[in-house]
Order: sequence, then structure tokens, then C-alpha cells
Amino acid sequence: MIEEGIVNNKRVIDPSEKSPVKRTQEISLRPRTLNDYIGQNEIKKNLLIAIAAAKKRKEPLEHILVHGPAGLGKTTLSHIISNEMGVNIKMTSGPALEKQGDLASILTNLKEFDVLFIDEIHRLRPAIEEVLYTAMEDFGIDIIIGQGPSARSVRLSIPRFTLIGATTKMSMLSSPLRDRFGNVFKLNFYSDEDILAIVKRTSRILNFEIDEDAAAKIAKSSRQTPRIANRLLKRIRDFAEVNNQKKITLNNAKEGLASLGIDELGLDQQDRDLLKILIEKFNGGPVGISAIAAAASEEQATIEEVYEPFLIKLGFVERTQRGRTARKPAYQHLGLEYNPVDFSIK
Ligand SMILES: Nc1ncnc2c1ncn2[C@@H]1O[C@H](COP(=O)(O)OP(=O)(O)OP(=O)(O)O)[C@@H](O)[C@H]1O
Ligand SMILES: [Mg+2]
Repeated sequence: MIEEGIVNNKRVIDPSEKSPVKRTQEISLRPRTLNDYIGQNEIKKNLLIAIAAAKKRKEPLEHILVHGPAGLGKTTLSHIISNEMGVNIKMTSGPALEKQGDLASILTNLKEFDVLFIDEIHRLRPAIEEVLYTAMEDFGIDIIIGQGPSARSVRLSIPRFTLIGATTKMSMLSSPLRDRFGNVFKLNFYSDEDILAIVKRTSRILNFEIDEDAAAKIAKSSRQTPRIANRLLKRIRDFAEVNNQKKITLNNAKEGLASLGIDELGLDQQDRDLLKILIEKFNGGPVGISAIAAAASEEQATIEEVYEPFLIKLGFVERTQRGRTARKPAYQHLGLEYNPVDFSIK
């Protein structure tokens, strides 16, 4: 049952929703080489040089921090890096590492030059971060041997490895941790052209034809985010398939998007409701995020990490010292009159 962009209570355009059911399919859509990774040209250029140099020196790659909104390809890029280096990748995440021993056992089991990928690295516990510091800098971990007065600390060496940390919340990363990364890459929202290329690539992999104008329409509604582009394409392919069509046409794309409640900018009902709350309930702001979250019955983190990045990118919402403000384009998009009270703020 499809209703206003919500399927099984999940938003179709939630970039953080990783569709666990179709996990295998998502993995197969993942580009495996830098060449196949569309867009983000500056990052690719730097990575190609870094990888070639590391290989030449027969050294591991310097530690890499990848940050940016959900669904832009941080995990994908990490797999590609290990693939291009020809090493193994071990995946874990900030919240999964509960005890220092968890991290120590992962580190001691790595092989030379392997990649350790830590997702949501901003959520590491401080005690675990401490272990990571020595591991990153000196390729060692300190363990305590013995008990009481005779206890002593011994440094154990670990294989030289590359840490790749990923985060959607760069501001929550402690600065000592941030400073230990040799490379910091910020993933940006994709251009329409790049998203169009991703839609076409995915339809080729799914072996389902799509008209150029239909692909462009889907690309335009994908919030400049590859994960959403792939998800919308799959849903619209379903529409074409139930109509016994062999390819996706512009009409399918339009009907599909309309029935998912997604407008021409890629906003769904929940985005529009959030903007309306900001404009109608709070007079366009400035208003604190916690008040918006309460009025929208949403978690603050969800608003900050899922809704806001793209609304800010569109210039609809601004984060100011005093809170969130709705900008003129948001009023225009909703067909509301823009009538700011205080010109110094809006
Ligand atoms: N540059 C790209 N070219 C082609 N496809 C891409 C690209 N980046 C991402 N994708 C596709 O988008 C999907 C989502 O990417 P990925 O899981 O790497 O995002 P993420 O940044 O790790 O998200 P999250 O913050 O939620 O973990 C991938 O399965 C992949 O198919
Ligand atoms: Mg990821």
C-alpha cells in the first residue's frame, strides 16, 4: 500500500534508510572501482594520487575521514579504496565498539595495509578513541599485564593499517581524532548530471530500459543523493512492470513520483509538513530545533541528519545562531506569502 511517500511506515526518500530487505541488491549496485564511482571528481583525483603513491612507497594509505550526508556514497567509497589498494576491509561502527578489548581484537587481527572502516565514527566512546589514537599514530596498543602494584603497561605492535572513518556529523568529531587523519574528504550532494548518470547506470544493471526524459525526471527528484535515485528507480520500475511495460517512460516516472507524494524538487509530504510547521507555527523562525522536533513529533537527530541537509542545500532553511529560519524559496515552493516581520533576520 503506497500512501504519500510512506511505504511500510518508511519514507521512500529517507537517505538514511538502507533497505535491509534489499541489501544484496543494493550491494550489487555499488560501484567497485574509482572509475565506476560517478561524480565527486575532486575526491577521486586526490585518491588516485594517494593510492598510486602509497603503492609506490609500499606503505599503507594514510588514514582517511569521509564525511557528508547519508546516502552520498561514504561506505561505497571505502570499499572502493580497499579494492583499489588490493587489501581487505574490516567493517565496524562507533556504537558497535563497546569495550576497548573489542577494538584491540579487531586491530590485532588485521593484516598489513588492511583497511579498518569505522562507520558513525563520531559515536565512538572516549575510552575507545584513546585506544585508536595510539593505534593510528604508532601502530600499537597499550595493554596492562598483571594486577595491583606489579601491573605494567606493555605496548603491543599491530599491523600497519589504514583507518577509514565515516560520519554524517563532522561537528561531533573530537578534534584530537580529526587531527589524526591524513586525508579528509567531504562528499557533496551530486549534480543533476551525475545523478542522471547514476540512474542510467542502475537501470543498466537492473536490466530495465528507461527513456531519457524519464531518467531525467527521476534524477531531478532524487535530492541529489545516489541512494534515493536508486530507490526511486526501483519503485518506478515496479510501476512499469505491473503495467506490463518493457521500459520506464516519462509517464511512469510522473505517476510513480506523484503516488509516492514526491514533488519536482524531491520533497515528500513530511518535508513539506516540516516547512509548514516552521512557517505557520513559528512564523518562519528563528526557532530552536527542539521546538520544531516537538511540534513535528520527530526526533531532533532525524530532523538534523535526514530532513535538514537537503532543505539547507535548497536554500529553504537556514541554521542561525538563534535557531532555524525559513527562507523565501520555501514560501514560494509551498505557495505561501512571504511576509517577513524582521528584515534583519530573514
Ligand atoms: N558515486 C556513486 N556512483 C554510483 N552509485 C553510487 C555512488 N555513491 C553511492 N552510490 C549508490 O548509493 C548507495 C548508497 O551509498 P552508500 O551506502 O555508500 O552511502 P553512505 O554515504 O555510506 O550512507 P550512510 O551515511 O547512510 O551510511 C550505494 O549502494 C550505491 O549503489
Ligand atoms: Mg554508509
